Amino acid sequence: MNILAIESSCDDTSAAILTDQGIQSNIIASQSIHLQFGGVVPELASRAHQKTITQTVKQALEESETSLDEIEAIAVTQGPGLLGSLLVGICFAKGLALSRNIPLIGVNHMDAHIYANFIDHQPEFPLIALTVSGGHTQLVYVKSPFDQEIIGETRDDAAGEAFDKIGKLLGLPYPAGPHMDRLAKEGDPTFHKFPQALLHEGLDFSFSGLKTSVLYYLQDKDEDWIQEHLNDICASVSFAISEVLVKKLKRAIKQTGVNTVLLAGGVSANSMLREKSRKMAEEMGVQLYSPKLSYCTDNAAMIAITGKMKADLGQIDDLDLVPFSSL
Ligand code: KG4
Ligand code: ZN
Repeated sequence: MNILAIESSCDDTSAAILTDQGIQSNIIASQSIHLQFGGVVPELASRAHQKTITQTVKQALEESETSLDEIEAIAVTQGPGLLGSLLVGICFAKGLALSRNIPLIGVNHMDAHIYANFIDHQPEFPLIALTVSGGHTQLVYVKSPFDQEIIGETRDDAAGEAFDKIGKLLGLPYPAGPHMDRLAKEGDPTFHKFPQALLHEGLDFSFSGLKTSVLYYLQDKDEDWIQEHLNDICASVSFAISEVLVKKLKRAIKQTGVNTVLLAGGVSANSMLREKSRKMAEEMGVQLYSPKLSYCTDNAAMIAITGKMKADLGQIDDLDLVPFSSL
């Protein structure tokens, strides 16, 4: 089945083509307009999606050397995400599905982060997914495709949000996660011990205390000192975040007895998290999968593979599909 997938839930407009031979193209147009505001401005995001979506889809078709006539279904992000942004992708997808008379498949963005791991691998069920993005931090027990339960989640900020907000305090551009990752590689993770909240309790997370702790820590430091120790601070913050994530993941593995774990979402690109998870999985004798870097952050290839998995189960939508920002 040849699938055209569209993702527009936040500030990346993306289109991908999936055929029986795998992902053929995955075009991502990132919106730079938000940089000056230090975060995503929803109204500007929807407008930028409208401007770029046609070109992004065209480019995905061209790069995959697929014609529109060969597309047999359209998969599109239904939510969660920014309502206006989702609306642009869904309206475009509906129009195309209607005019081509082909099925429409609505995809949950968080599911898609998990199933991004199935683009290049065939992980075995049941499994635990650690889904860490800018808006979510969840431990998901997945019994079989789409039969899943959230067994742990953040009570306040998401892990990516923590990276972004702390990075902003340090003067880094938005999104700060990748910058902190890069700087942390040159720093000492034991430079300062930041708090690791809820470490000894259950499977839920909390990151807002860490953000406040960094704020207080920086209060009596001058700009020169911060710049001089930027790598060490980034490494120490990355240590605190990744340590909690991996310890909770380990606890979830012990509680459920699964043999397979997946990393998912934008923060799964983080090198310290990937390395710590790799070591933990090796120690525990479980199989660990993480998406290749271009499939970690928002992309349409993950929407395509998830759409395909839904289509295989007969889960097709119709033109009544509506965006659902808190899906
Ligand atoms: O999944 P994603 O692209 O969008 C959402 O669904 O939210 O995740 C974006 C988040 C941002 O908070 C970004 O800072 C974070 O993922 N991120 C990282 C890295 N790459 C992206 N955080 C830490 N280290 C990274 N290498
Ligand atoms: Zn995402």
